[in-house]
Amino acid sequence: MTLYENLAIRLREHIELGFYKPGDKLPSVRQLAKEHGVSISTVQEAYRQLEQELLVEAKPKSGYFVSIQNKDNLPSISRPPQRPLEVSQWEEVLNMLMIRSRTDGVQLQHAMPDMRATTLKPLLKDLSKQNPEVGLSYSDVRGTKELRTQLSRLAVASGCQLHPDDLVITSGCQEALSVCLRAVTEPGDIIAIESPSFYGSMQAIKAANLKAMEIPTHPETGISLEALELALDQWPIKAIFVTPTCNNPMGYTMPEDKKEQLYRLAQSYDITIIEDDIYGDISFQFPRPKTIKSFDTDGRVLLCSSFSKSIAPGMRVGWIAPGRYRDKVTHIKYVSSSMCPVTPQLAVAKFIRLGGYAKHIRNMRLNYEKQRDMLLKAIKTYLPKDTRVSFPAGSFILWVELAKDIDSMKLVEKCRQKGVGFAPGPLFSATGKYRNCFRLNYSEKNVEKREAAIKTLGQVIAEMQPD
Ligand SMILES: Cc1ncc(COP(=O)(O)O)c(C=O)c1O
Repeated sequence: MTLYENLAIRLREHIELGFYKPGDKLPSVRQLAKEHGVSISTVQEAYRQLEQELLVEAKPKSGYFVSIQNKDNLPSISRPPQRPLEVSQWEEVLNMLMIRSRTDGVQLQHAMPDMRATTLKPLLKDLSKQNPEVGLSYSDVRGTKELRTQLSRLAVASGCQLHPDDLVITSGCQEALSVCLRAVTEPGDIIAIESPSFYGSMQAIKAANLKAMEIPTHPETGISLEALELALDQWPIKAIFVTPTCNNPMGYTMPEDKKEQLYRLAQSYDITIIEDDIYGDISFQFPRPKTIKSFDTDGRVLLCSSFSKSIAPGMRVGWIAPGRYRDKVTHIKYVSSSMCPVTPQLAVAKFIRLGGYAKHIRNMRLNYEKQRDMLLKAIKTYLPKDTRVSFPAGSFILWVELAKDIDSMKLVEKCRQKGVGFAPGPLFSATGKYRNCFRLNYSEKNVEKREAAIKTLGQVIAEMQPD
């Protein structure tokens, strides 16, 4: 056994025996190295191993902490139906979207970022005042050069070398996903997707008259490549649609080597990948994780994103790096909505150029990570003991799995009457599965309000549980 494995065993024992409780700070690397007479890199390796086991978490500039979450109560690996299906659930999704205007109660159902800290607002005001004409005229159908230039600079952080001409600006990520689906498929085609999956992407699949092949997905590492390969052997799948970084709704980030393997798999079956990276910049990992696009050498990955989660959804600033589908994507974007409004693009470009965006997401990352831990604590305190919950590697949403006999569609109705909202599980399946699951948002900064909401949720679940 190596030195680091030995040290990892001892640290694991200390955590399991309760010497260190969830959330406690662990001894520093230096201190452990001195105490155990080993090198700094041995301690770092031991901590890395415990990090992979989700026992320990590294926090930038603060050191190592015992994880709030552990592997035993993560949601189960999903087991969706093993055949392509038409997507249903539109009425349920629409019902949830309509709740948006209500401001009373605690609404934890929408993946809405905390927008109070955004320093972009004065820039928007200045731009409209200083040069109002620029926001009133037509511009390049691919989006302003200023924004595309800044995006190609940002892309370096996710491992991509993109020229401004390799990008097309869209009205948010939803339009980006729809345009890409239409660019790479014909009606009736089959798309492989993670299960559970973001309801907006499944509705885009439905709207393009495609079928969804839901693939079993692991709560820590994402889509099962083994199950995907079996599906690829069995069905004429046209494209793979994934959100591999800070997934919505589960929050996992697919390990880098698995991202590369997924790309190689797509290459060997000669199909495309549509990669949704909307939460990538608010990963808790720094530097942020690489995209699948970063491994793309033949242009088969269409990368989609927006600033809806990292800045504000009302800006509607999204984009596509469409690889070899650039001309088709530009044409579909043009017939879909022509060009996008100019002022928000210029404001975002300036925000990035002046360094405001980097500072903003640094703060967001720290806030969301703290808020995740607080929400996990509240869930442990107020929800039933057998509740399983995901451990997001970034973003501000998590996935909760209750005992099989609790119906989240009934639960959501009862909680709504008490002013608490969340997104029920069936919205995240093509055919209404995950009835005992739901998604919660933790960007709500008011801790008391959020804690009270989880307490209410726990009370309603207790009332629904058979004696
Ligand atoms: C994974 C994912 N993709 C795309 C979107 C749509 O983003 P936008 O508001 O930029 O259209 C969302 C919004 O919730 C999302 O969570």
